[in-house]
Amino acid sequence: MIDESRPVTTNQHGNHDDLVKVVMRHLRAPFQKPIQAHNREAFNQAQQLLADWDGPLILDSCCGVGESTAWLARENPDALVIGVDKSAHRLARHAHYQAAEAGHRYLLVRADLMDFWRLAVAAHWQPKQHYILYPNPWPKSAHFSRRWHGSPVWPYVIGLGGELVMRSNWVMYLTEVASSLALVNCAATLSPLLHQHQPITPFERKYQRSRQQLWELRAQLPEDGRYFSAIEAE
Ligand SMILES: C[S@@+](CC[C@H](N)C(=O)[O-])C[C@H]1O[C@@H](n2cnc3c(N)ncnc32)[C@H](O)[C@@H]1O
Repeated sequence: MIDESRPVTTNQHGNHDDLVKVVMRHLRAPFQKPIQAHNREAFNQAQQLLADWDGPLILDSCCGVGESTAWLARENPDALVIGVDKSAHRLARHAHYQAAEAGHRYLLVRADLMDFWRLAVAAHWQPKQHYILYPNPWPKSAHFSRRWHGSPVWPYVIGLGGELVMRSNWVMYLTEVASSLALVNCAATLSPLLHQHQPITPFERKYQRSRQQLWELRAQLPEDGRYFSAIEAE
């Protein structure tokens, strides 16, 4: 089969041993890496659109070809949906995956989320929902810092607030996310997606065709700033 995809394999036996240490370190210290000009430009474009908008905002981070972005726009006609991905190649293929009809509001932005999320927090964005579907798993233990929850930008994902919705074909990625959220007193639910679930992204479709179990995490993120006080209370 053309789309055959192998399940994720890892040298970890459970959540990463350094999870608590790494996440807490990042929560304590702001991420200082300078913002790149092209990401700021891309963000400003989205910000302009948002300035004229007073309805709900849905973020679709790591949107790839933007199929889920168009789907979310169709499912949420009252919302503005912003899809972000750093891959120009993937975004350029969007036309093939465009499910929403004209009139639905969504925007695809090419930017690195390491910068985009920080800019969004600084601009006080408050998404109602934040989707991160099938992030790269980086399953080798040594690559923990490349997973979103192991990266210094993770506190900014938490800081954006709203309902976080993440999906993965590697359940350990999501159990780690749930554990990292527990550190800021945020409860997450983890559930298997049904086999007959209608795929909304190319990766989801590919994993489903390979009969892999898919998982979804949902969490209502703390109100802005709550995670800082959780840390101060340590
Ligand atoms: C496994 S693909 C999933 C894409 C899509 N959500 C899907 O399910 O088909 C992961 C995506 O994350 C994007 N990505 C990874 N790191 C990123 C970053 N730092 N900033 C923006 N996008 C990133 C990649 O370009 C890629 O499109």
